[in-house]
Amino acid sequence: MKKLFIKTYGCQMNVYDSARMADLLAPLGYAPAESATDADMVILNTCHIREKASEKVFSELGKLKELKDQKAADGGAMMIAVAGCVAQAEGAEIVRRQKAVDIVVGPQSYHRLPELIARITRERGHALETDFPAQDKFDSLPEEISASGPAALLTVQEGCDKFCTFCVVPYTRGAEYSRPVEQILSEARRLVAKGVREITLLGQNVNAYSGAGFDGEAASLAQLICALAKIDRLARIRYMTSHPRDMGDDLIAAHGEIEQLMPYLHLPVQSGSDRILAAMNRQHTRDDYLRLVERIRASKPGLALSSDFIVGFPGETDRDFEDTLSVIRQVGYASAFSFKYSPRPGTPAAAASMHVPEEVMSARLEALQSLLLEQQRAFNAGCVGTTMPVLFEKTGRKPGQAIGRSPYLQAVHADHAAHLIGRICNVKIESVFPNSLKGVLLEKQARAFGTFESMASN
Ligand code: SAH
Ligand code: SF4
Ligand code: F3S
Repeated sequence: MKKLFIKTYGCQMNVYDSARMADLLAPLGYAPAESATDADMVILNTCHIREKASEKVFSELGKLKELKDQKAADGGAMMIAVAGCVAQAEGAEIVRRQKAVDIVVGPQSYHRLPELIARITRERGHALETDFPAQDKFDSLPEEISASGPAALLTVQEGCDKFCTFCVVPYTRGAEYSRPVEQILSEARRLVAKGVREITLLGQNVNAYSGAGFDGEAASLAQLICALAKIDRLARIRYMTSHPRDMGDDLIAAHGEIEQLMPYLHLPVQSGSDRILAAMNRQHTRDDYLRLVERIRASKPGLALSSDFIVGFPGETDRDFEDTLSVIRQVGYASAFSFKYSPRPGTPAAAASMHVPEEVMSARLEALQSLLLEQQRAFNAGCVGTTMPVLFEKTGRKPGQAIGRSPYLQAVHADHAAHLIGRICNVKIESVFPNSLKGVLLEKQARAFGTFESMASN
């Protein structure tokens, strides 16, 4: 038996890809390893989105080289592969900078890993594979998927045609591609058969989804969700990441109509200043975004939002930054991710002048994050005393404890619930911690879980 260790950086799509790479290598005899030390094969599934993310890869490769040399000295061997967006963006440069790397494989070509491993074993040297369309990959991935718990990820769309001026994704993930509806439905059915109760549909621009439908016509994300909602025992559906431009009327309506669609939406705005939004090529104004939020909330009252923000985009003034703070105050977010602008090679914004000084960026990030944290705390505090359906995903640190997710993606832990993993139960929220909520199972449910499940969320 050989051992495989995959280290994943970046977004959920990389998490999905890592799981598929493990599925792909399992028939070759690779079982999961606990760490790189125990592994015969190590894959770094990398992210290129910000400078820090991609530099991490090279320091990690340095450590792996030492491990590989050590193994060779002990008469063993280790293969190192770099996958993901750094592999796509830097290709041959990776092998040049770190000779210990055996394989470089892009996000659209990892289905060729078995073949590349065979080639390296046979011929030695390096293998580099970075240009194949997304369709080839999905057509050739194995059907067998290993579900890693009751909540699963499912990539339905890849790539991006938006070309925001700060972003590398259109270059690393290529043009937009949507998987056909039937292919997604079969994958979802297989996941549900393995006990999955919640599926998050993934795409760099997931709401731009337009896959081939049953009638040969392109189906929208709303139509896809509608079809998925008919799968028995699939209790929860989520999707991310959405672009404000692609929030179609049918998708907005779906939030009000489809019970399985969770009342939580990640809808990145990046900035609240029209000037900066235009320079970012976001293709919407501040007002477009605010009106969109109003329409989504009218369709699904109580829906909670999250967003991504970039501070210090080139040319951002104090006034622009104030506009971002005011959008945050107007919308009120349940959670958010925020980043300092990081110039990325090959993107138009990197060539811009008027870069914002580091200390200004730091001060803005701090102010923005403290406002967002305040909102997140208020949102979580508002949940105390309410009862919400929680999908229990894993056991907690204390005996008998289980941890799950609320409809708003909050981590919720409860005692005496370890036997309820994979089930959706009503939990009364009692207290708030910095990163989670604590609640108690409604008593009747804790005893007789066979009867309440239907009443909780299906
Ligand atoms: N497709 C998604 C985002 C993908 S990247 C969308 O359109 O929103 C995830 C987040 O990383 C982005 O939302 C953005 O906030 C951040 N990001 C992307 N490029 C960046 C850069 N050059 N510097 C800092 N943050 C960046
Ligand atoms: Fe990047 Fe913009 Fe595409 Fe999102 S929409 S992946 S931020 S280019
Ligand atoms: Fe990073 Fe690539 Fe995802 S750059 S955020 S891993 S699409």
